[in-house]
Amino acid sequence: MAKNVVKVGFIGCGGIAAYHFSHFADQKIPEAQITAVCDLVDERAAAAAERFSARAYKDYKEMLSKEKLDAVYVCVEPCAHNGMELLAIDKGCHLFVEKPVSLDLKYARKVEAALKSKKRINAAGFQDRYLDFVPMMKNWVATQKVGFFNAWWVGGMPSVWWWRRRDTSGGQAVEQTIHIFDMCRHLFGEVVEVQAFGRRGVIDDVENYDTEDASAVNLKFANGIIGTVYSGCFVRGPGSKCGIEAFTLDGHLDYVERTSVAITEKNRTVSAKTGNDYGQEEDVAFIDAILENDQSLILSPYSEAVKNLEVVLAANESLDNGGKVVKI
Ligand SMILES: NC(=O)c1ccc[n+]([C@@H]2O[C@H](COP(=O)([O-])OP(=O)(O)OC[C@H]3O[C@@H](n4cnc5c(N)ncnc54)[C@H](O)[C@@H]3O)[C@@H](O)[C@H]2O)c1
Repeated sequence: MAKNVVKVGFIGCGGIAAYHFSHFADQKIPEAQITAVCDLVDERAAAAAERFSARAYKDYKEMLSKEKLDAVYVCVEPCAHNGMELLAIDKGCHLFVEKPVSLDLKYARKVEAALKSKKRINAAGFQDRYLDFVPMMKNWVATQKVGFFNAWWVGGMPSVWWWRRRDTSGGQAVEQTIHIFDMCRHLFGEVVEVQAFGRRGVIDDVENYDTEDASAVNLKFANGIIGTVYSGCFVRGPGSKCGIEAFTLDGHLDYVERTSVAITEKNRTVSAKTGNDYGQEEDVAFIDAILENDQSLILSPYSEAVKNLEVVLAANESLDNGGKVVKI
């Protein structure tokens, strides 16, 4: 192995790890090599280890003490962030953490502080920020007086066991729609107030199900912009929708999540379709940032993930308390 190859370890080898694996496979990032992988499910760790000629572990503590890793990906369930980030930072590793980075804001802030004090390169899994048309969209919004926006993540229910319970996933806004909340913050700025209502009872045939079927989260931003973000996991027929629609003094923006954007003004329409492999770019940026010791290459740092977490947990607090306004 070349001397300047970034040695990467994975904690969690499930669905999203497979997405990252595909970006590292076949020498697609020749400057990096996955050398150790860990999962509580032996077969998952073994399969990943075989694919990358890496060593397999069940216990991340053992992996982090036996291996000399430069970077660690944390790809575990939202409820399973139980200290691996802090240990990895302590062992000298740079860190990529999948969203939501925890269900515990205090823990996420502790990780954020450790990353800062130990000056580790860090990233969180908000890959949509790497879509090629996002800078164009963001620049246009910056020229506009935005009145309000509506945003959606409405579809069916993911099949992983932990998704259907609020105590293991955080609920849909926390686990899934957080991508949309992130893009809203990226486009419109910082959220200062959150108010939410949720609905249960649409889905009545899923075992062990304990979260909202639908929620509407009102957001107020520091610059005065307001908007509502809808989440729904009850749709089994047609009617899925993911994206953001913003209404401005001079025009209209229609962003279809990960797919396209259309901006309409009185005398012009600008539209774009996704033209890049944004997930690949997210992982390349992480490895480049490590090699160049340049955190500014990362479009979705851990600190942004913590702000997203604060907003979606505030939404849960509001919908658990009759729609009270939660200040951020
Ligand atoms: N960025 C995205 O678009 C995206 C997409 C899907 C999932 N995710 C996020 O990624 C995370 C994982 O989701 P998933 O779909 O891969 O879940 P998954 O259930 O498929 O995989 C999680 C894996 O982590 C392992 N694990 C849990 N605790 C562990 C521990 N202490 N040590 C080692 N392994 C451990 C589990 O055994 C499991 O194999 C979630 O937070 C999810 O929200 C992000």
